[in-house]
Amino acid sequence: MSKGKETNAKIEILRYNPNTGKRYIQTYVTPFDSGWSVMNSLLYIYEELDSSLGVPYMCLQGRCMGCAMRVNGKTTCACSTPMERNMRVEAVSNLRVIKDLIVEYGRANISYDPEKCTKCGLCVEICPINIWSVSDRKRVAEKSKDDVLCIGCGECEKSCKGEAIRIELVK
Ligand code: SF4
Ligand code: SF4
Ligand code: FES
Repeated sequence: MSKGKETNAKIEILRYNPNTGKRYIQTYVTPFDSGWSVMNSLLYIYEELDSSLGVPYMCLQGRCMGCAMRVNGKTTCACSTPMERNMRVEAVSNLRVIKDLIVEYGRANISYDPEKCTKCGLCVEICPINIWSVSDRKRVAEKSKDDVLCIGCGECEKSCKGEAIRIELVK
């Protein structure tokens, strides 16, 4: 453990048991280490405290978004987000939960109507993979050419008061 270890951290996780269909909060206490990511703390729980916890990950290098989850209300990449002393961790919204933090990804179609866009920039701030962009020094939503990486979390659609964005999950 690095020098950043000082005290403990409290991590509340919204779990889902596919066998019982039950969703419930479970709280864990782990070391707090300022050099740890959210993923480091989840893997600590899995390895040291509770191997029944479903933790999704693939590259562990901040590239694949296979570890996407909601941390304190914000959808983010767990392996590149620093842990906090108090965290509430949940599965990505909008997607089918398989177990605990593990969700089923599919393809998401994005549509954007520039006529309805008020250029508030909320979608730019909220998207965990920077699909939306800023241009002409104004906060203007522009659909990226590459929407393949969209994880379908629906956060941009929820944030858009002008209903300029639609996210459609394709089975
Ligand atoms: S949230 Fe909606 S209105 Fe705001 S910039 Fe994005 S698309 Fe435009
Ligand atoms: S649904 Fe919206 S916020 Fe979520 S990843 Fe796709 S473009 Fe970004
Ligand atoms: S596991 Fe690939 S980005 Fe986190």
